[in-house]
Amino acid sequence: MAIPTSPKEQNLNAAAVVPAAGRGERLGPGAPKALRELGGVPLLVHAVRALARSRAVTLVVVVAPVDGVLQVRSLLDDHGVAGLEGKDVRVVAGGATRQESVRLGLDVVPDDIDVVLVHDAARPLVPVDVVDAVVRAVEDGAEAVVPAVPLADTVKQVEPAAPGRPEPVVATPDRATLRAVQTPQGFRREVLQRVHDKALSDGVDATDDAGLVEQFGGRVVVVPGHEEAFKVTRPLDLLLAEAVLARRRANDEF
Ligand code: CTP
Ligand code: MG
Repeated sequence: MAIPTSPKEQNLNAAAVVPAAGRGERLGPGAPKALRELGGVPLLVHAVRALARSRAVTLVVVVAPVDGVLQVRSLLDDHGVAGLEGKDVRVVAGGATRQESVRLGLDVVPDDIDVVLVHDAARPLVPVDVVDAVVRAVEDGAEAVVPAVPLADTVKQVEPAAPGRPEPVVATPDRATLRAVQTPQGFRREVLQRVHDKALSDGVDATDDAGLVEQFGGRVVVVPGHEEAFKVTRPLDLLLAEAVLARRRANDEF
C-alpha cells in the first residue's frame, strides 16, 4: 500500500504572506489589530506560528503597518518566532489597502518559491490542518484555492438604503450554494503574481486575492475551512477567540 507523502516529501516549497498592516477600525480604539493581544500574545504571532507549523511553509513574510516595521520585527523576536523550526520570517512595510499590502509582501518572495499562501494576521487560530489542505490542493494542480465554510444564516440580497432605513429585499440566494471564505488562500506563485500585476496596471480592487484570479478569468476552487479560522473583526470576535484559546490551552491542543 502506498504511504501518502507529506508536502515536504513532494518537495513543495511554500511561502506565506501575512497582511498585518490594517488599523482594525471595527475592533475599536487601540493598537493596530494585528498587535492586539489574545491570551497575552499578539494576534500576528499566533497567525505566524499557525503557518510555521505547516511543514510545507519555509518562509513567512509579515506585512507590517508602515510605521510599525521595527516594532513588529522586535515583537516577533521577543516571542521567539524568527527561526521557529528553521522557518525564515521577514517583515516588510504594508500599503493603504490589503491588496497593496499583499503585493508588497509578494515582492520579497524569492524566485524558487512555487506556492504562495496569503493569510490574514486577523485569523490567529487557523488550524494547521487547514493550512496543509490548502497547500495540498495547490500541489494537486489547482491554481487558486480558498478554504471556506457553509453559512449558518440565510442571506438576503438587498437594495442598500440610508442607515436606519428599511431595505427592500431583492433576492434570497440558495444557501446550499454559498460559502463563507477564509484564509490562508493558496496560489501557484506565478498566478498570484500575474493577477496582482494586472490589478495594479488596470486599477482593479478586490476584497480577496482569489477574487482577483476570478476577475481575470482564472479558476478558483474551495476546500473545507474550519470554524476556528474565523477573522477577528469586531470586539465579540476577540471574546470568542479568547474562549477558543483557553480551551486549547486547557486541553494542551495547538
Ligand atoms: N490589511 C493590511 N493592509 C491594509 C489593510 C488590511 O495588511 N491596508 C490586513 C489586516 O491587517 C488584516 C487583513 O488585512 O490582517 C484583513 O483585513 P481586515 O480584517 O479588514 O483588517 P483591518 O483592515 O485592520 O480592520 P478594519 O477593516 O476593521 O479597519
Ligand atoms: Mg479592513
